[in-house]
Amino acid sequence: MISQQTIDQIFSAIRVEEVISDFVTLKKSGSNLKGLSPFTDEKSPSFMVSPSKGIWKDFSSGKGGNAVSFLMEAENYTYPEALRYLANKYNIQIEEEIKPNLEQLEAKEEKERLYQFTDFAKNYFVDQLHNSQEGQAIGLSYFKERGLSAESIKNFSLGYSPKQKDALYQFATKKGYKEDVLIQSGVCVVGEDFKADRFRERVIFPIFSFSGRCLGFGGRILSSNTKTAKYLNSPENPIYHKSQSLFGLYQAKNFIAKKDQCVLVEGYTDVISMHQKGIQNVVSSSGTALTTEQIGMIRRLTHNIVLVFDSDAAGIRASFRGIDLILAQGMHVKVLTLPKGEDPDSFAQKNTSEFLQDYLSEEPTDFISFKSAFLMEESGGDPSKKAELIRDILQSISLISSPIERELYVQKTASILEVSTQVLYAELNQILGTANRVKPKAPQTEPLIISKKTEEPQNKLSTHQSLIERELIKFMLTSGDRQVELKSIEDPTLSYQTTVNGEIIGALEVDQMSLQNPLYKEIFDQIKESFKTNNVHLKAENFLQSQNQEIVSFIADIQLEDHQLSPTSEYKEGIVIRSDKKLLDLLYRYKSITVELLIESKQQQLKESSNAKGDSSENPLLQIQKLIGLKNTLYQLLNRVV
Ligand code: CTP
Ligand code: MN
Repeated sequence: MISQQTIDQIFSAIRVEEVISDFVTLKKSGSNLKGLSPFTDEKSPSFMVSPSKGIWKDFSSGKGGNAVSFLMEAENYTYPEALRYLANKYNIQIEEEIKPNLEQLEAKEEKERLYQFTDFAKNYFVDQLHNSQEGQAIGLSYFKERGLSAESIKNFSLGYSPKQKDALYQFATKKGYKEDVLIQSGVCVVGEDFKADRFRERVIFPIFSFSGRCLGFGGRILSSNTKTAKYLNSPENPIYHKSQSLFGLYQAKNFIAKKDQCVLVEGYTDVISMHQKGIQNVVSSSGTALTTEQIGMIRRLTHNIVLVFDSDAAGIRASFRGIDLILAQGMHVKVLTLPKGEDPDSFAQKNTSEFLQDYLSEEPTDFISFKSAFLMEESGGDPSKKAELIRDILQSISLISSPIERELYVQKTASILEVSTQVLYAELNQILGTANRVKPKAPQTEPLIISKKTEEPQNKLSTHQSLIERELIKFMLTSGDRQVELKSIEDPTLSYQTTVNGEIIGALEVDQMSLQNPLYKEIFDQIKESFKTNNVHLKAENFLQSQNQEIVSFIADIQLEDHQLSPTSEYKEGIVIRSDKKLLDLLYRYKSITVELLIESKQQQLKESSNAKGDSSENPLLQIQKLIGLKNTLYQLLNRVV
């Protein structure tokens, strides 16, 4: 863990414009800098950097924040990764918080040694491919024959391991690498009377981590007539875990985030050929079923996965369980099948870039429909098999957490399997248990539209509430420490001095209200905590170093909206001053909307319980009457302010 001292040091060293100009060409525009958005393909610049405020805002994508959040967006770094990048850029020595114990230190050193050697081996293979006669004649010509461009070969750091039995072993030990690290990495195999390289006479596909460190290799044999496996891979070791790496992820990650979609294929060459043809958001799980860890890595970048299947059915069925894992993580899966006899590599090589783009945007079907159609065909209309497949598909549907999506899939499945939705709902409810029951709908109705209609007014109100919460928070962050003099509503001769923060916090507390939007609530709670315990008013700047990038982005937004009250027109003794006005206006509006929402939910409750007998709690009608009274009072107060 990076120490707070180092974090402070980093934040005081960074200049947002210096960090960003490594990625975006910036031109001066008034006191700000402007450039083309790195997140969209725009023609006229809408990306803005404010050096004085230390923030950026991309008006085309709506993103914004500080230097750290920029790196997290642009490079898909985690928070600590972004800090390490910045420490490196500004030559800041990173101080780790908790001193690791000896064992941990040794494990770390062991891993570091492995990383270094693996990187060394990668460079060796690359060098052999390009600069040795054998590499050029055998390796390079193989890649060319397979249609891989020089650019792809470079981008994926492809290499070649020579015929000579111990070529790398000799080279590495001469360079001072100890035998045990060679063995541990799995690149060399050593017995009592032999020392040998694992990948001899193979072309090399290095596998990289999310942040671009080489973890291990896949090596493909060149001749097709040998008995050994087509591909050899690095064995599991402290830095390489097959289940935790994805081939091509490092090269694809920015494209995945930008396209908000990840294409998943089976093999090494599939990835490279697709990438070369302009489908750059593509990764491979290297011939194994997708693991939870791998899904997690993709999930950092997008929630949308497109699986590309060869047309042969054998592997498809086997992959169904893995796909359920993706659904269970709340992600969306689509499936793309290729024409008979093709794999993604051959398909990409055969077709134009444009064709592939179109194919990928038009052809994929959602996984549930795909699975239904696939199993339906497999069952060949056998009724006993059909019952089994219905349950199988509903099992997948039950993993989807959104009820609306589930409903949509039930409808689709019903039409594909030619069964009624009633039957499906009954079965689905059994799988889901009583907790998440889905109500069956009459067959002719359109449930999505109906639910939209009933939700709309409430949505409008809560959106409105959220907007006022935003105003409240913004007011607190920009003017929270301002002194205000307020008059008692009941007795205007009474007045009291307070601060904007004091009044808002107190007023909400009196009515036991708390903010509903989680982002605003988090900020509000921090302001309140600091105000109550230390009498310190947190301002916008105090949140700019937050680890929560949603907060940082919000702060950047409000810093750019210059609606702060001008201090000159503020104080006029004896009259309600402007910031008082704004304060009271905001508070009353907030309370009104919150009360309105309450009334609505009570009315809903009333409707739902109208059939039920005796209720022990207070009569909801009475409650509603009270609330309406309160609402009217608030409106009167509001009118007095305006
Ligand atoms: N694979 C492996 N070991 C094997 C065979 C396959 O690790 N013995 C992995 C590789 O990552 C390979 C993927 O499974 O890329 C898919 O295998 P396959 O379809 O057989 O190979 P292709 O990727 O089509 O390879 P190529 O086009 O080079 O024949
Ligand atoms: Mn292939």
